Amino acid sequence: MKRMEQYQWATEKSHLPGDTLVLPDLCSVLLDPKQWETPQQFNPNHFLDKDGKYTAREEFFVFGAGARTCVGEQMAKIEMFILFTILMRSFHFQLPKGVKELNPKSIIGLVVHPHCYKICAVPRYSAS
Ligand code: HEM
Repeated sequence: MKRMEQYQWATEKSHLPGDTLVLPDLCSVLLDPKQWETPQQFNPNHFLDKDGKYTAREEFFVFGAGARTCVGEQMAKIEMFILFTILMRSFHFQLPKGVKELNPKSIIGLVVHPHCYKICAVPRYSAS
């Protein structure tokens, strides 16, 4: 989300005049190899401690940070949890016949999104 610098701001190396449009690049942290073991791969271990328990990481700030952080964070997390849990309980997910792998790379733009792909959702339980 874009932010406008309200005051003039300077360090030894850089200078931002007031009213400068600032676009924070969250990928600089979310894909930082100094913060993450495998930043380019889906890796749930990033969020597990040495005992295999979930641990929150402050480097994972997809909802922004500071005074203007996302107000929908809790709602979004609850919605994603409910949706993802229902889908995982209801279906097996598998590649369509003849497809060997998906393209795991993200498309980075204003938002980060995956390449288009087809996947088969096979019901876990039959209706009968
Ligand atoms: C996965 C879902 C979501 C993600 C990743 C997300 C991410 C973000 C990010 C990065 C910001 C900018 C924070 C900043 O500038 O520091 C933001 C702001 C905001 N988000 Fe979300 N958001 C999500 C869902 C939602 C939902 C469900 C709502 C409302 C129901 C919501 C409402 C807002 C609002 C109102 C702001 C502006 C806050 C402000 O400027 O004070 N977001 N969000």
